Amino acid sequence: MMENNNKIPFEEDNYTHNINRNNERMLDRRGFMKTLVGAAGLFAVSSLPWGAVAAKELLGLSNKEYPKMKIADVNAVAVGDSVKFAFPSEHDSALLIRLGENKFVAYQNACTHLRCPVFWVKEEGEMICPCHHGKFDANTGAPTAGPPRRPLPEIQVKVENGVIYAIRVKRYEA
Ligand code: FES
Repeated sequence: MMENNNKIPFEEDNYTHNINRNNERMLDRRGFMKTLVGAAGLFAVSSLPWGAVAAKELLGLSNKEYPKMKIADVNAVAVGDSVKFAFPSEHDSALLIRLGENKFVAYQNACTHLRCPVFWVKEEGEMICPCHHGKFDANTGAPTAGPPRRPLPEIQVKVENGVIYAIRVKRYEA
């Protein structure tokens, strides 16, 4: 027994050492896999629901309503002028244009090509994207020139007691 005792610890040490080394390698690999899976999970979590929301919006299936939001007083916007605002969130930059005495239109103004801000050029009667000369019809939000292929998302507006409100982002027609 005593003789063996001299050897066993050494072998055990060696054995343990090897196991530890193997475990370390496995842990490394597992750690790496976990990171990968974690990253993939995060990606899925961050992209899927929004993808679904976007798909719903595009397909016109979303019923999401936002609280109405004041854009401006009617008196503060002359016919032919535009006002910048944000709707429904502060990050959704938008444009209200007064096309006539009683005609107000509003669109989210991130260009549907590469998201440059589109602005209203009164003299030309068009919404223009400066990045690649994209143009949009102010009456419909439809692209009329340049690379954009999709219309600007329209924001439904309502005038109540001399105040213009944003009501909702209109669904795309399927
Ligand atoms: S980003 Fe608007 S035309 Fe390209």
